[in-house]
Parts: sequence; structure tokens; C-alpha cells
Amino acid sequence: MNALTAIIEPPPSPLPDSAPLLAVRGLSIFFGGRIVPTVQDVSFDIARGETLALVGESGSGKSIIAHTIAGILASAATVSATTISFNGIELAGKPAAVEALRGRRIGMVFQNARAALSPTLSVGAQIGDVIARHRRLRRTALRAAIVQALASVKIPDPERRAKAYPHELSGGMCQRVMLALAMAGEPDLLIADEPTTGLDNTTQAAILDLLAAEAGRRRMATLFITHDLGLARDYADRVAVLHAGQLVEEGRAATVFDAPRHPYSAKLVRAVPAKAATVADLGGIPGKFPDLSGPVPACRFADRCDRAVDRCRVEVPRLEPVPPDGMAACWRPLG
Ligand SMILES: Nc1ncnc2c1ncn2[C@@H]1O[C@H](COP(=O)(O)OP(=O)(O)OP(=O)(O)O)[C@@H](O)[C@H]1O
Ligand code: SF4
Ligand SMILES: [Mg+2]
Repeated sequence: MNALTAIIEPPPSPLPDSAPLLAVRGLSIFFGGRIVPTVQDVSFDIARGETLALVGESGSGKSIIAHTIAGILASAATVSATTISFNGIELAGKPAAVEALRGRRIGMVFQNARAALSPTLSVGAQIGDVIARHRRLRRTALRAAIVQALASVKIPDPERRAKAYPHELSGGMCQRVMLALAMAGEPDLLIADEPTTGLDNTTQAAILDLLAAEAGRRRMATLFITHDLGLARDYADRVAVLHAGQLVEEGRAATVFDAPRHPYSAKLVRAVPAKAATVADLGGIPGKFPDLSGPVPACRFADRCDRAVDRCRVEVPRLEPVPPDGMAACWRPLG
């Protein structure tokens, strides 16, 4: 297991309905004994019924943040966090607490769906296991619920597909099975890491509409990790922008996309009006992430930023409120 450090005890559970369902404070992730953290001091909240999109270039740390919350980060990592609180339950440094919630109150869809499915069980049996954990159903009703779960993620011929094993399905189909599995547990929080990778546009939209409807119906919170800024704008209530492991801007999706305050977010969102704009398309941002094996500038965007001043290299900018209603970590925010 990775070493997790909880510095502050969480508030008692249950929380009032207005409190965030998930609160992450001061999360840092270190690899391979490095002094420089791969993820540095990241904090964010997600309320019930809310979708927070986490966006940033490849390697910025989106997945390892998701894996940390879900308690499945590689053992090579060391994590420190002031708190990772789910519905008032402290998860930082409490692997048993995360384990008890994962697959039940916290559902997950990860990038490599096929690897996450059991190769030795039919997909129907895997979904049936999850449903049976929280609903007592007779055999016929359970079979119907499995078929319904597969149909809800637009799997054609769900009766037949329920009997299939993961290796008999395409990558896109495995992705949908993974989603059906996550939703079958009726989670309070869905962690969806590129949940529609490999799906065609129509299926992608149908599935994201389904997730949005579910979030509305059951007040499910969603951490939606995506390269696709257009999807983040269309489906997220709020957006958090990550650059080289630092959270640089956070706010309502409309605000971040229409009037970004951080120079990096501004460069990212400039590509959104273009068709099929994804973070990967943004070859236009000069430079790359700093090499974390040596000293890095305090603001990790400094080498790529045309607004950088000396202070940016020596003093880490903290997330501070910026008008009208967001937060940015920048000594010289735009606007
Ligand atoms: N087990 C590991 N050992 C060492 N470094 C790791 C390990 N896992 C991840 N990393 C590093 O952590 C950083 C963040 O990785 P992560 O997978 O979270 O990126 P990401 O933002 O999800 O990228 P992508 O958009 O490509 O999925 C990368 O630099 C990666 O090399
Ligand atoms: S803190 Fe400085 S280097 Fe970093 S984004 Fe702001 S202006 Fe640019
Ligand atoms: Mg990733």
C-alpha cells in the first residue's frame, strides 16, 4: 500500500446536505522517492448532483488523482493529504474505509476498461454481482436487471451480450460494460476517467446524457476526467484545470470557458470552439511540463507563460478567488 497521511481528522458523518460530498484538500502524490511531487497540493470539492470536469494535458496527473480517491493508486506512490473526505468519512490514510465504499458508494470507470473487467466471468455475471450486493432480487428479476443495465448503456442485443466474456467484446463495448457495472451499484460518486474513450460520437452523447440524467435523478456526484474540452463544457457544472500536477483554475464551466483567468486555461479553452477540440490537439502551447526529477519553477507553467515574472519561479501561487466566481493560482491572472 502507498503511505497515506491524514493530518486533520474529518468532521463527523453524516454531513448536512449542503456540504460537499467529496472534499479533497492538500493532496500531493510522490513517485520513486522524488522530492518534487508529481501532483502538488491539489484541493477541490464536489457537491451532490454536481459534475466536476478535471481537464489538462496528458501526464498532468488526472488519473493518479482519481486513483488516489478510489484507493487504487500504484504502490510505488506516496500520498499526503490534509483530507480526502467522502460524505464526512475520512479516506486519507484509511484503506479499509475506501475499500468498503469502492464499487458501492463510489463507482469507477477507468481508461482501460478491458483490464478492469474479470476475464473469467461473463459480463452479465459481473453486473449481477454488483446488483445483488445492494438489491435482493429473485433470479428472474436479477436477470432482467442485468439486461436493463446493459441496455441503459446502449449495448445492442443485451440478452445475448450478458452471456459474453470481456475478450469477446470490442474495446468500446467493454467501456460500456464498465459503465453499466459502475452504475449498477447506484453510486453516490462516480469517478469517470475518460468514460467514453473509443466510442462513436452518437454513443458517447447517449451515455453522457444518461450519466447526466442519473446525476439529476439520484443527485449523483461525478468526477469527469476528459481530454475533450467540448464535452467538459457541455456536461460539467464546474471545471478544474490541471497543469503538471498543479490545479491552476477552478470554477463554473461557463465562466472558465468564457472568461478564463489563468494563462494556461486561456490557452486550453482557445481551442474549444474548433470542431472536436481536445487537449491533445493543442500543439499550440509552447514548451512542455518541467522535468520533475530536478528543481522546478514554483509555478510549473512559468517556462511556457508569456506573463511570467521572477516571483512566479520562486513562490508557488495558491488558488485564490478571482472575479466573478472562480479560483485561479496565478500571480498575474488575466482579466
Ligand atoms: N506508477 C508510476 N510510477 C511513476 N510515475 C507514474 C506512475 N503512474 C503515473 N506516473 C506519472 O504520473 C504522471 C501523471 O500520470 P496520469 O496517468 O495521472 O496522467 P493523466 O493526466 O491521466 O494523463 P492522460 O491524459 O494521458 O491519461 C505522469 O507523469 C506519469 O508518468
Ligand atoms: S503564476 Fe506567473 S508563470 Fe504562472 S501562470 Fe501566472 S503569470 Fe504565468
Ligand atoms: Mg489518465
